[in-house]
Amino acid sequence: MASRDSFHSRIGFVLAAAGSAIGLGNIWGFPTNAANNGGGAFLFVYLVVTFLLALPALYAEIYIGNQAQKNPVSALGEACGEKMPRFGRFAGKIGLVGAIMMLSFYTIVAGWMLSHALSGFSAMAGFSELSNWLASDSTLRNIIFTPIFILLGAAIIHQGVHKGIEKWSSRLMPILLVMLVCLIIYIFQQDGAMEGLKQYIIPDFSRITEPRLVISAMGQAFFSLSIGVGGMMIYGSYMEKDKDIGKLVLSIGALDTLIAFLAGLLIIPALYVAQHAGQEVFSDGNLIGEGQLIFNILPTLFSSMGSIGLFVSGVFFALLSIAALTSTISSTEVPVSYLVEEKSMSRRKATWLVSGAVLIASMTLVAFFDLLFGIVIQGLTTILQPLSCLFYFIVVGWIWKRGNKLKDHAVIAQRPWLKYWGYYLQYVCPILLLIVFYNVALA
Ligand code: PHE
Repeated sequence: MASRDSFHSRIGFVLAAAGSAIGLGNIWGFPTNAANNGGGAFLFVYLVVTFLLALPALYAEIYIGNQAQKNPVSALGEACGEKMPRFGRFAGKIGLVGAIMMLSFYTIVAGWMLSHALSGFSAMAGFSELSNWLASDSTLRNIIFTPIFILLGAAIIHQGVHKGIEKWSSRLMPILLVMLVCLIIYIFQQDGAMEGLKQYIIPDFSRITEPRLVISAMGQAFFSLSIGVGGMMIYGSYMEKDKDIGKLVLSIGALDTLIAFLAGLLIIPALYVAQHAGQEVFSDGNLIGEGQLIFNILPTLFSSMGSIGLFVSGVFFALLSIAALTSTISSTEVPVSYLVEEKSMSRRKATWLVSGAVLIASMTLVAFFDLLFGIVIQGLTTILQPLSCLFYFIVVGWIWKRGNKLKDHAVIAQRPWLKYWGYYLQYVCPILLLIVFYNVALA
């Protein structure tokens, strides 16, 4: 077998992993979930869940990949040792299914971003009819833009890890950050923004135990950090062994949470600004048109900017499309690496095969949108991803014998806290996950 491709630097890994984490989950998912679950209460629970559960899960996932230096199916199979390799491989394959599920709806939403970007630019060029069509919600738009997005992803991924992934991730994300900050400054000069800020920052503590809120916060945290489908595991495997994974996880978590927080800081006040201006955004306390939240709110925001608004809109949605692309890449890499390493397929062939499967899955979702779209998202984020994480905790805490640093006495002698970290992953995290599953059963 040809030697494995890899990241060329530590920062390369962090940027690619952050590129995977930062995406539509942060800017489309987080504000929608927050607005739907009382703003501040959701933010509070989200931060708690991220810190106590999601970051440890991210650690476990990257750790397994990094130790194994293999694709998730082989890594988990090997992790389970000679006695239960099948069980491990089965868990790895759950991740493969998760990756395809993620891609099936993600490429649709990413297609919306792409068409909104083109809508801004085409309005600038004077094609207002085309621009309106691009910004309107239609099945035909999905049928055109979802495949375009899948093709873009395939074109990048078949170039390989270093050239394809590392390069793209590092260049574009800083621009997104700057743009978000500028938009936040702008929105805070509008009437109504302060009410939104209060709603977002001040938690209503009476809500924080609501099962629906807890589940949404956990699903959002797992999704946002790209945990439980094997994408972070495969990136971990492309990194030189035994880097200080704890630090890496903290940097990825900080960047991802920062962008989600900023997206909320933009969208929730923008929601109240729109409401202040007479737009109906809630009915009976529920958000109107849920998944369409940012598409209802952002265009109002951009059009309030006058002529420059079209340009800002085009650039903003273009950046979101790129953020979505770097997230798509990590998910696609999961089945691709499996086919390359285990089925000896060429990278090119594997990429096209996986992209074809994603196309079929996403077109099925487009055809049965009302029936399937919500269910697939829920199923992935509240069942499949947490289940994979439970498995990662069991592997790292209980099963793995081979070179497990968490149990390596020589290493623990140097850094005694590692012992407690090991206990935390072994005992506390699985229990926390079981509590969340209990909430899922209640809701
Ligand atoms: N974390 C990505 C986002 O927030 C989505 C993602 C989920 C990517 C799972 C890979 C795996 O948009």
